Amino acid sequence: MQRETVLTTDDLIWPLFVTQGSGVEDPVKSLPGVSRWSVDGIAQRAREAVELGIPCIALFPNTPSGKRSEDGAEAFNPDNLMCRAIKAVRDACGTDIGILTDVALDPYTSHGQDGLVDETGYVLNDDTVAVLVDQALVQAEAGADIVAPSDMMDGRVKAIRMALEMNGHPNVQIMSYAAKYASAFYGPFRDAVGSGGLLKGDKKSYQMDPANGDEALREIALDIAEGADSVMVKPGLAYLDVIWRAKQAFGVPVYAYQVSGEYALIEAGAAAGIGDRDALLMEKLVAFKRAGCSGVLTYHAPVAARLLNG
Ligand code: PBG
Repeated sequence: MQRETVLTTDDLIWPLFVTQGSGVEDPVKSLPGVSRWSVDGIAQRAREAVELGIPCIALFPNTPSGKRSEDGAEAFNPDNLMCRAIKAVRDACGTDIGILTDVALDPYTSHGQDGLVDETGYVLNDDTVAVLVDQALVQAEAGADIVAPSDMMDGRVKAIRMALEMNGHPNVQIMSYAAKYASAFYGPFRDAVGSGGLLKGDKKSYQMDPANGDEALREIALDIAEGADSVMVKPGLAYLDVIWRAKQAFGVPVYAYQVSGEYALIEAGAAAGIGDRDALLMEKLVAFKRAGCSGVLTYHAPVAARLLNG
């Protein structure tokens, strides 16, 4: 009766990994309970999301290695895995499901970085932004509702917003990964999209220092000014203070990405007997709501929805 915070299925965004082929379910070893699905399987998962009351899915491709290149050009191929998955979900579910798509080059580059690199491997901000614009446009064209740049280049929100306006997609939203930290919690995701083994070095020249909070507010302010409809803080639980501050400072929809390492820790903890899995995951999810989130990207979305639906 006196509970202040309520978590509902409306708060859940379900990240899904797309792989090539048909009829394929390929389990991700470092993410127990999570699989890569071929396009037909993604459409089935989208139907499952609708039945569970989950309003939105987030798509990430595991690009076949032959299509990864130095310049990540597969990212803006209108017939790539991502675009085919978007269309299949739209065909299967119409407008009953929101489709959020990842804008970044790491699933497409042979070096695993989110952008184009110079000969020393340094990620080139402005050259990358031009490619991200092309990538966002093919996704919008395929039917994405929300494009979500996760690359952390400066200036990309404005460039993508202008391109969407000028190319007939004024209603496609931008959810910006505005405060994304150079985190050790992304390991299983990199396995899932197949970029982990390729990545040389780290992403510290563009992702944030975990020690910084004020900088996160500056990053978020810039992305809102450039036209972001909503912003994300990532990872989740270690950055609840940033979520709180962002919500207080800007009053915009703030989302948390409970990332792969966070999911894997809950599963490993439960398997090791430290507590009840369902109780552990629900406690963490409600914390995001308490901190001010409008929703959470979580691999636990279908499990949480089943628990919430009783
Ligand atoms: C990269 C991207 C990453 C995640 C989402 N988009 C990993 C990275 O920055 O290396 C991580 C998500 C997760 O760990 O669940 N564009």
